[in-house]
Amino acid sequence: MQIVDGEEHLTAASLFCGMGGFASGLYEAGFQILWANDCDQQACAVFRHRFPDVRLIECDVGALGVAADRLPPVDVLAGGFPCQSFSQAGARGGFDDPRGETFFEIMRLVEEFVPARRPRLLLLENVPHLLYGAKGLWFDRIQSALRRAGYWFRRSSCWVVNVKDATSLPQDRERLFLVAASKAHFTYNPFKPPVGEAHSERTDHVPLETFVDRSRPQPESEYLAPENKYYKMIAHKMAEGSEDIYQLRRSYVREKADGLCPTLTANMGRGGHNVPFIRDTWGVRRLSVEEVARLQGFADPENLFPDLPSPAKYRLLGNAVCVSLATLAARACKQALEKQTR
Ligand SMILES: C[S@@+](CC[C@H](N)C(=O)[O-])C[C@H]1O[C@@H](n2cnc3c(N)ncnc32)[C@H](O)[C@@H]1O
Repeated sequence: MQIVDGEEHLTAASLFCGMGGFASGLYEAGFQILWANDCDQQACAVFRHRFPDVRLIECDVGALGVAADRLPPVDVLAGGFPCQSFSQAGARGGFDDPRGETFFEIMRLVEEFVPARRPRLLLLENVPHLLYGAKGLWFDRIQSALRRAGYWFRRSSCWVVNVKDATSLPQDRERLFLVAASKAHFTYNPFKPPVGEAHSERTDHVPLETFVDRSRPQPESEYLAPENKYYKMIAHKMAEGSEDIYQLRRSYVREKADGLCPTLTANMGRGGHNVPFIRDTWGVRRLSVEEVARLQGFADPENLFPDLPSPAKYRLLGNAVCVSLATLAARACKQALEKQTR
């Protein structure tokens, strides 16, 4: 807890903060963010632009230290650690990949706090395949590490969720949230995944058209030239199907059915054809940065970024925790903290 302007606030910190998907959700739920860390210069530039009052330590997480960096204790430590090595679509190196190993940096930092000052809740985020990969060994390692550090944690402390099912955003994006509760503060893990009636009002879909602006032309550079091979592939598919969103895979075009946007990924930063396409009156174009930002739950997309090249904006947006999901998870953590049992 921290007193700000005479009021008590729950506190949080964000490791692997990126452009601040988790931070936005935590703020929305009423937390004060005391500090954050990321090593990516462009992510940090955006985070600073969005959260000028938060202490951002820009360095490799391995160089971060509780004493050296004078990190204050917090109620919730959020960590959307890199997911590439756990993803079904990736190389699946798990903890043998340096990106997967970053999970253990979270644990190292947690254990640098004395038990009574450790975060009351750890709120982690990754891909659902983390639960099943390596025949369950990845999950076992995570569970053992959390328990060793003095946390209540088991499979039922996890929330597997799709953005399209839990929020009003029409994006097909499946994620995993893991919440561990400190034994120094709780006699059991009070976190309950935010499912069921209490949250059902959030599942009315807002139509995709609300997020996509077909009423005015985008800059010419956003449109595919008719002689472009991707234009031909997409236009051919569009002639067969509806006016929905289309996504280019390596050698074919996939239509995304049911008025949903496909998972928005960091690959979008690697060039035009990784970004989903739509047709409007002026041609076939990729979704704009603002449209992608809205589909990731960021309010006020026009003021989200400092001056950055657009591939960086797409990459950072694809990497972000969807703000609407982060908000639901943060609210569930707040409810759990209100049930503190020690
Ligand atoms: C999936 S993104 C996280 C998104 C973020 N949690 C959010 O709230 O929107 C993973 C982030 O981890 C950062 N990262 C990866 N390896 C890191 C390391 N060794 N040290 C610090 N940050 C790292 C990346 O720069 C990236 O921003």
